[in-house]
Parts: sequence; structure tokens; C-alpha cells
Amino acid sequence: MTRHFLRDDQLSPAEQAEILDLAVELKRDRFAQRPLAGPQTVAVVFDKSSTRTRVSFAVGIADLGGSPLIISRESSQLGGKETASDTARVLERQVAAIVWRTYAQAGLEEMAAGTTVPVVNALSDSFHPCQLLADLLTIREHRGALAGLTVAFLGDGASNMAQSYLLAGATAGMNVRIGAPLEYEPDPAVVEDAAQIARETGGSVAVLADPVAAVGGADIVVTDTWVSMGREEEKAERVRALGAYKVTPELMTGAADGALFLHCLPADRGYEVDAAVIDGPQSVIWDEAENRLHAQKALLVWLLSQQ
Ligand code: CP
Ligand code: NVA
Repeated sequence: MTRHFLRDDQLSPAEQAEILDLAVELKRDRFAQRPLAGPQTVAVVFDKSSTRTRVSFAVGIADLGGSPLIISRESSQLGGKETASDTARVLERQVAAIVWRTYAQAGLEEMAAGTTVPVVNALSDSFHPCQLLADLLTIREHRGALAGLTVAFLGDGASNMAQSYLLAGATAGMNVRIGAPLEYEPDPAVVEDAAQIARETGGSVAVLADPVAAVGGADIVVTDTWVSMGREEEKAERVRALGAYKVTPELMTGAADGALFLHCLPADRGYEVDAAVIDGPQSVIWDEAENRLHAQKALLVWLLSQQ
């Protein structure tokens, strides 16, 4: 049966670990796997802007022997004139997989339900699971293992990154803390799903209003923009509500010695994080950005092998 990757919890702990192992192998030997040789085409569709996702999928698909077809919403019929399921029926006869960055998670679900080729979430309003594979790969490279580590995400707890940290971190057996004010807490259904996974993996999840408590003793500190794509009109209100969750050098002193700092980028220095942290010695953001390539290649190889 076709496997899709729309949310982080669509991979079991064993499958997540297998993909991360494969990513390490592909990072060492970039052209070791060529499942798209032909070349077969992968459609990569963008309803929102992107630098990293666009480049890493385009380069990764080519590395795997395939041909990336980058489609932007403005230049296609998707969204305005045509449904996701009709689009999927057209694409599946010509492409090996569909990668889509969009707004509502429901659109991705409709696309996946309507097609026989794998559909990959390249970011929605609710989740950013490809980024989490890259983040977990980065943490593994720097710390050797994932299970038992404590990660603190600060800021917009209802964002795609926070919610993906809950699900993917719990799957990896990590202790995930979200530090966010009440009005920016994650969806309770996602917290419950993550808690259920954590009970099986030995991890844990917690949502805390106090940023100092959230970061206390953490092995990894993560943040993301306070103004996700599509939320631009709420900027003033978000800056006011999230100001206390800025990752500063002082806040980092409460984390474990040598704690890592991650940010999926793009970053707004001076808002969610101070330059001294994101450009300082604890930051691993450039490894994290590079690892999008290796992690997504591993994901595509794995999804194509499940057909
Ligand atoms: N981190 C990330 O997804 O970056 P882009 O928006 O540039 O793709
Ligand atoms: N939370 C951010 C991530 C950008 C990669 C957004 O959705 O804009």
C-alpha cells in the first residue's frame, strides 16, 4: 500500500530510525541510491515561499537519479480552479511522488486519499515533518542518540514546528517541552497524540507557560519565527505576546552545559532569538539546513521502496 508522509507520527519509531540511518549513509555516499533513475519525475508544489525546501528537494531528487518538477500555485490550476484530488489523479500517471507545501493539512489529506503515489508534506500550517527529520539527524550527529534527550521549543506553540517537535520528538523517545503562552499553545489533540506515543517510547511531553522552566536543563533549545507564513497581519500582536519567549544568552544559561541551539530558518534576529545565540558556538543551524537534503533523500528512498 502507498505510504504517505503528511505528519510526523505516520512513521513508527523503528521506521523513523531506519530513515535516519539511511540519511547518515546517504550523507556519507551521496549517490549511493538511484531509485529515480530514468529519470523519473517528482512534482514539488509550492503554495508558499521557500528557499531550503525548494533547493533540497530539487537537488535531492536529482541526486537520486530523478528530475524535479517545481510548480508554484500561481502558475498552476491547483487551489483556485482545481481540487487537490483531481490534481493528484492527473499527476500520478506521470510522476513518482508528489511533494506539497500548502496551508491546510486537510488539503494534503485530500491529495493523499486521491492518489497511488506517495505524497509528502513539505510544510503545512499544522506540521513540518521533513524539517523534523533534518533536525533529528542533526541532533543525532551532535549527540550520538536521541532517546532520553530533553528538547525545549520556545515561542509559537501552535506553529507547525512546535507541533512537529511534539510528534517527532515523542516518536524518537525524547522529552519534549513546549514553552508558550496560553494563547499560543499547541492543539490539545496533537499534545495527546504525542503523549500517547511517548508512553510507548519512554519519552514525555509537557507544555509550560514559563520559558525559564521550559529551558531548565534542556539538552537542545529550539525556536522558530513568531510570524509563520500566512500570519503576517498578526505580527504586532505576536511580538507582544511572545516577547518573553525570545531565546537570549541569559535564557540559554539555564539549559544544560553545551546545549545545542536549532532553528529551521528563516530567522528574525532580535525577535525570536538574539544574534549572539543563533550565530554563537552552540548553534548548529547550518548543519540543520544541510541535513534537509540528506533526510529528504532518505525519506524518498524509503517511501518509494514501500510501494
Ligand atoms: N526551513 C524551511 O522550510 O525553509 P524554507 O521556507 O526556505 O523552505
Ligand atoms: N513556522 C514557519 C516555518 C518556516 C520554514 C512558517 O510556517 O512560516
